[in-house]
Amino acid sequence: MESDMDRILISREQIARRVCELGEQISETYAADEQAGLTLVTVLSGSLIFAADLIRCLPFRMKLGLITVSSYKGTSPGQPSLIQQLKVDVRDRHVLVVDDILDTGATLRLVQAQLAAAGPKSLRTCVLLRKPDKAPADVPAEFVGFDIENSFVVGYGLDYNDHYRNLPDIGVLKPEVYEEKL
Ligand code: IMP
Ligand code: MG
Repeated sequence: MESDMDRILISREQIARRVCELGEQISETYAADEQAGLTLVTVLSGSLIFAADLIRCLPFRMKLGLITVSSYKGTSPGQPSLIQQLKVDVRDRHVLVVDDILDTGATLRLVQAQLAAAGPKSLRTCVLLRKPDKAPADVPAEFVGFDIENSFVVGYGLDYNDHYRNLPDIGVLKPEVYEEKL
């Protein structure tokens, strides 16, 4: 699997350091208002691994929610669709959406609209990666791990046709892999 990688953009060590820094930033934002209650909403499947690491850097009480959205077919963005709704009540709670990557913003626009309609006390977004050339101004992300180049990346939860999520580093696949039918 690692031999399918063309190059590594972000190593597992860089990811681990940055995730802890994000944890500190997020803790500063919410820890003072712990009583109000934070619900961290993970957008599956891509942010599964990121969220698992991030929440262990947050040393205060919180709840978890899951929402499943699907958009990409191979390396082409499609219309995002909600596969599974949020099953927990977030009315009057602080909500932090956690996603793997902010690309065109279509996915997070849909998720943010859904959550805003549920009446949270506040709504913020944390993404591990952002492609700055494309991320639109109307889809805010208050916490961003890394701004990356405009390439299709895999690893640390990010997939190509559902493969490579289990790679510990984030990188770009060899061109011939994208041509295979995985
Ligand atoms: P957006 O809706 O275009 O912002 O894309 C968001 C979703 O598409 C992410 O949550 C990912 O699941 C997927 N995605 C976007 N860019 C990439 C990429 O470079 N690699 C893998 N998945 C991606
Ligand atoms: Mg995703």
